[in-house]
Amino acid sequence: MRIGVVGAGKIGKLRVQTVKEHAASRLAAVFDVSAEAAAAAVRGTDARAFTKLEEFLSVPMDAVIVSTPPHLHEEAAVGALSRGCHVLCEKPLSNTVEGGRRIVEAALANKRVLAVGFNLRYYPFVKFVRAAVDAGKIGKIDHVRIYGGHNGLHNFSGDWQYKMPESGGGAMMDIGIHMTDLARYFLGEITQVSGVMSEKVYNLPGSEDNAIAVFSNPDGVPASYQTTWTEWKGYRSFVEVYGDRGMVRGSYAPMMNMLITNKGPNGAIDRKFELYPEIIVREKLKSWQSTCLISFREELRDFRVMVYGNVNVPLADGYDGLRSLEVAQAVRQSTAEAKLVKLPVLGRMPKVAS
Ligand SMILES: NC(=O)c1ccc[n+]([C@@H]2O[C@H](COP(=O)([O-])OP(=O)(O)OC[C@H]3O[C@@H](n4cnc5c(N)ncnc54)[C@H](O)[C@@H]3O)[C@@H](O)[C@H]2O)c1
Repeated sequence: MRIGVVGAGKIGKLRVQTVKEHAASRLAAVFDVSAEAAAAAVRGTDARAFTKLEEFLSVPMDAVIVSTPPHLHEEAAVGALSRGCHVLCEKPLSNTVEGGRRIVEAALANKRVLAVGFNLRYYPFVKFVRAAVDAGKIGKIDHVRIYGGHNGLHNFSGDWQYKMPESGGGAMMDIGIHMTDLARYFLGEITQVSGVMSEKVYNLPGSEDNAIAVFSNPDGVPASYQTTWTEWKGYRSFVEVYGDRGMVRGSYAPMMNMLITNKGPNGAIDRKFELYPEIIVREKLKSWQSTCLISFREELRDFRVMVYGNVNVPLADGYDGLRSLEVAQAVRQSTAEAKLVKLPVLGRMPKVAS
């Protein structure tokens, strides 16, 4: 598979590395507004470096990975899809719901795979929760609790990361978009949203620093959701799924899991803990990016599986990307109008013939 990469910043460099390492993939081209970044990304390969999108898109390619800031995703993703390429786009799919919808429409019209980089699905703490739920260990899901936060602006290396016109919003579009996706990953769908967001700490117009909401699936199963840029302890996230026979929790960072199962109201309780000392040590030595890189390798593997016609993989698709944007917008609407916002069932994107 000939793969092009758009954006060779922190994340784009990792995406390029996964393509270079993959035996059945070949880096075809890299596009970045910075000639140095593009040139550095293609070094050691016969791929070409570009600083103009049109020239990049004229290279014969099978797929494109988009890893520029969110307000630039649409032009690159729609351009690649309409030239017949499959696309793996970084989260958030776009800075606006409308932009996300246009990207999805381009994928449908051109019958191409559109995947979205919700890579937390591939982190071991989330895989553990998924496996416990799928194995029926906690019984029928009763509710979900999701949290993701960090200490805000100190974490950002570029202005686009917190300025609404580029990012599309604040905490809900940053770490919160991963948590929205995980809420839907466990609920199956999100069709009702009510919540409150605020921007009283950093006072950045349109960039909420906190949002607290309740999402529900079509059966009325709820998820409580909180995302924040005022988690003064630093990066923290967790997902907890409660069932009628127990609960399972995954948290990061540090990464750990807990599974509690019971055999009925008066039955014995089993507790299982999973710690990840090798990940904790690796991240101390090689940073969080080393865990991110492993998840990107798995996303690339499953992206290829989707391109070859099997959508039964954890990789998020365009509808996952779009619904997470719609949910963030619904929290804003719910805040402004003090009401419950309803969304139709969206599901998974149709399979693309291989
Ligand atoms: N999946 C994850 O865990 C994760 C983590 C962080 C960021 N992201 C997402 O990845 C994407 C990139 O984030 P990043 O941290 O690498 O950003 P970055 O600022 O490090 O890199 C962005 C790159 O885009 C290039 N660029 C800027 N304007 C451009 C233009 N007009 N045309 C072409 N290139 C342009 C820059 O030169 C830079 O190389 C964003 O969508 C972000 O939300 C995902």
